[in-house]
Amino acid sequence: MGLLNIVLLSALLATCFADEAFFSACDEATEETCKITAVNITPCQQDKHKSKCGIRRKTNATLAFDYTPSFDSTNLESAIYWASKTGDLPFPGMDKNGCVYTSCPVAAGQTQTMTYELQLGRKLPLGNFLLKLKLNDADDKTKLCCFKTTIQIKK
Ligand SMILES: *[C@@H]1O[C@H](CO)[C@@H](O)[C@H](O)[C@H]1NC(C)=O
Repeated sequence: MGLLNIVLLSALLATCFADEAFFSACDEATEETCKITAVNITPCQQDKHKSKCGIRRKTNATLAFDYTPSFDSTNLESAIYWASKTGDLPFPGMDKNGCVYTSCPVAAGQTQTMTYELQLGRKLPLGNFLLKLKLNDADDKTKLCCFKTTIQIKK
């Protein structure tokens, strides 16, 4: 098998295992400012309604999403929260510098991907968690990309 075939095959396999996750918009963000077009979580055990990704504890899951900002930025800030009923609680592990997870600068109208490795430690409680991911300009926080997605942490 030629190198190209191996590359193509790997790309194909990666596509098969990358699961498109259900996501919703954040109240504080608008599509006009930043449009999220896809969210992928790998691995993801979909439930039958495909409403959430089941992930086992003690695994690292890759969370990747495609976004198209309507702003330019050289300095992005990122944060991940557990959007609990009583408010957003920081979910540990993410670097505040968003440029670690997506290439900077970003330009208005250009679609980019942000990729983050979510580390699910052994001590996390089991159950459903609504995660909220924010990516914004460090100087102007109204320049915001944001979405929510539910994961089910499994044993
Ligand atoms: C998850 O990622 C961290 C940091 O890269 C690494 O130390 C750890 O071994 C990984 N865990 C698994 C289960 O792959």
